[in-house]
Amino acid sequence: MTQREITAATVEELIAKNISERFDNDHEVVKLSQHFRREGYVKLPGLVSPEVFDAVAEETHRLIDTHQKRIDIRLKETGDSPRYMSTVGQKAIATDGELVPAVYESPALKGFLSRIAKEEVLDCPWDEEKYIITRQHQRGDTHGWHWGDFSFTVIWLIEAPSLEYGGMLQCVPHTDWNKEDPRVEDYLQEHPIRSYGHAKGDMYFLRSDTTLHRTVPLNADRTRIILNTCWAGQRDMTKTATHETMQAMFD
Ligand SMILES: [Fe+2]
Repeated sequence: MTQREITAATVEELIAKNISERFDNDHEVVKLSQHFRREGYVKLPGLVSPEVFDAVAEETHRLIDTHQKRIDIRLKETGDSPRYMSTVGQKAIATDGELVPAVYESPALKGFLSRIAKEEVLDCPWDEEKYIITRQHQRGDTHGWHWGDFSFTVIWLIEAPSLEYGGMLQCVPHTDWNKEDPRVEDYLQEHPIRSYGHAKGDMYFLRSDTTLHRTVPLNADRTRIILNTCWAGQRDMTKTATHETMQAMFD
């Protein structure tokens, strides 16, 4: 199937077929699940087929070209950590995108992520965190230390610089976000920081609410573009969440 034939109507079937073929080994899935629950992070090679990834990447590029806005801010809810990047918010993607919203809704994808998480992965109850795009491209660009408001995130590496230029993900799993007293520096000195390099085409699953994470600042003008798709756990359905950091970053 060529890229042109991948549409919102056909993508679910392609995702379901790919997952059943690619992850037919229970031992591998259990290992991925244990890694995810231990580290708050796991890379999921082949989560979607290259054809689906490329079609989503093409749409992501188009949405950036049309809708990106530059932000250069620091946020007190995460200990004044910086956000230096361009962003596209959920509303623009929902209005102007086709494949990203369809992939987000995919029952096959949510079902597989639920196996990895060992709990049900649910649609995010707050629309504006369902999917967003960020683009870092200038020296110093970074998504500084932060947590997410919701439990589960898949990051799609649409473009990634080689590791020597920065952009690596760093994580401190099993930490809690207190917005009044984030204590980011305390966590960083108390716990090991794991670093993960990525290449274009990679996808990873992050336990975003309890994994303190950031991207290493770019040390040169290089491009790092990600699509962020975010889901909730049952625990997120009852809590009264506020969304200060998201509202500061996205329209
Ligand atoms: Fe994040």
